[in-house]
Amino acid sequence: MRKNIVAGNWKMNTTVPEGVQLAKEVVEGVAAAADLKCDVVVGVPFTHLTAVKAVLDGGKVWLAAENCADHDKGAYTGEVSAPMVASTGADYVILGHSERRGYYAETIEMLKTKVDLALAAGLKVIFCCGESLDERKAGTHFQVIKDELVGSLFHLEEQAFANIVIAYEPIWAIGTGETATAEQAEEIHAFIRQLVAEKYGAQVADDTTILYGGSCKPSNAQELFAKPDIDGGLIGGASLKAADFMGIVTAF
Ligand code: 13P
Repeated sequence: MRKNIVAGNWKMNTTVPEGVQLAKEVVEGVAAAADLKCDVVVGVPFTHLTAVKAVLDGGKVWLAAENCADHDKGAYTGEVSAPMVASTGADYVILGHSERRGYYAETIEMLKTKVDLALAAGLKVIFCCGESLDERKAGTHFQVIKDELVGSLFHLEEQAFANIVIAYEPIWAIGTGETATAEQAEEIHAFIRQLVAEKYGAQVADDTTILYGGSCKPSNAQELFAKPDIDGGLIGGASLKAADFMGIVTAF
């Protein structure tokens, strides 16, 4: 049985003290919520990992980094490797976010390397895919998503693939206030699950968690999460206020 997950992606927001405070509020919210139907993850900047981990210890909230390097170690000034991330006690790393692909020129091939390094370091991966508005208008969105998944993930053995969570994030819905409709999102999620089934078989596909991301908020989470192939969300803006984030966490 696959897990439901609601994961925050704080992006480049909050100072360390602000982040620690936010994490505390999330931990308290989760502790107070009866009968949660999902795992809760907070994705935080590298600088915050150790301090936030200390707040999460003993609680029920998992920790993610927002990126890792495409090298294991060495002379790569300013980069942070997957083993470094793992050494903070982080459980997950978010890879392939469209902001990384778009602003930092991360390629499918580079992401394949990052995925391998993250898994080798013992991290689980939240792997993002999704099309731009132009690609959707041109009708190439299915192919774009397929290329991203096949190129960076489908070389994995089945056992390794079990540590992958997929997040569908249509670029046109990120931070724009424009959400994909639940039907639009479900169509892509079902397509992604079908791709996984063709590659790894029906059981693996059934066990794979597929999250939706893009202007997800308390007011639309319930409708999105009610769809059969939407197993939770990757939340940007609404993860920066504990009350909003908890409104999504409790939407199941
Ligand atoms: P918003 O929720 O701010 O649209 O961001 C979504 C996202 O990019 C999560 O990774």
